[in-house]
Amino acid sequence: MREPHDSVPIQEDDMDEKIKELRERARIAITETATTLGELSDIRVKFLGKKGEMTSLLRSMSALVAEERPRIGKIVNEARAELEELLAAKSEELSYRELEERMARERIDVTLPGRTAPVGHLHPLTITLNRIKHIFLSMGFTVEEGPEIERDYFNFEALNLPKDHPARDMQDSFYITEDILLRSQTSPVQARTMQKNEPNTPIRMIAPGRVYRRDSYDATHSPMFTQVEGLVIDKGLSFADLKGTLELCLHELFDKDVKVRFRPSFFPFTEPSTEVDISCASCRGAGCRVCKGTGWLEILGAGMVHPNVLRMSGYDPEVVSGFAFGMGVERIAMLAYGVDDLRLFYDNDVRFLHQF
Ligand code: DAH
Repeated sequence: MREPHDSVPIQEDDMDEKIKELRERARIAITETATTLGELSDIRVKFLGKKGEMTSLLRSMSALVAEERPRIGKIVNEARAELEELLAAKSEELSYRELEERMARERIDVTLPGRTAPVGHLHPLTITLNRIKHIFLSMGFTVEEGPEIERDYFNFEALNLPKDHPARDMQDSFYITEDILLRSQTSPVQARTMQKNEPNTPIRMIAPGRVYRRDSYDATHSPMFTQVEGLVIDKGLSFADLKGTLELCLHELFDKDVKVRFRPSFFPFTEPSTEVDISCASCRGAGCRVCKGTGWLEILGAGMVHPNVLRMSGYDPEVVSGFAFGMGVERIAMLAYGVDDLRLFYDNDVRFLHQF
């Protein structure tokens, strides 16, 4: 068998037929078979590509008799043009359909409520501490810090509590070695601050921080809690300055009309010493469960700095005087927020923490 165009010129009728048949097949492929842009692209390659059927048909025109070439060429070009047009139309239709499908698939409901990112929350002790800091910073105090692992010397000796002093029993401490312990109070920062300074330099500072004691863990005790220490030293300070400063602080912290009472007390590092009470907010002084029937709540310890304490840290009690105070942050937070169990502050149950 010979291929028709091998050596004998092809008949133009043959050519007409072939073009017609090809055109029809391509038309069906484009308009009916293709369902995706990918398939359409394959069809374009198959018929109109460099090695496509239409192209090889054009090449075979060389086998035609010369007079026929223009006519056949025209028919081929027409066919080509028609197919290009069909391809373009189909491509537009398919892109549109694919876009529609994609939009349906990726459809989102913009009316759905968003997911809120949970925002953190300050701990009630942090809030209380910030309030205390704010009050003293506005009176020109600085904020000092000292280590939680402290030397016996700063925690006790420099505060007029020599070894074997009976008042050491007031605070049962955690010792690490004979000379090192977890500080049982923030008072050592008093001695550290004085010793950092040139002798007799005025001081107006608070020192917040954690302290540790060998206490039970119950509604009102914890082996770790938070204190704020205060120390003011200058020439000519008296007990009136102590009273004025602490009254102002307590009125800011609680209520403008809260009553403040100063009771005589004892601390080794102050002379005279006082414990400060505020009128019970729960019963307005009438006496209730919170104040154990007394109408008063003990809120802090204070006093005029003992001459020995000044002297031991290089200050001269003949030249300057000072007052000091120490308050428990948990206790203040409990009273301010009406919390009746200290342990709630350490459990960190978010249902509790979220209420502040
Ligand atoms: N350090 C005392 C305590 O932990 C509190 C205290 C009382 C501090 C009187 C002072 C002060 O600075 O003057 O119980």
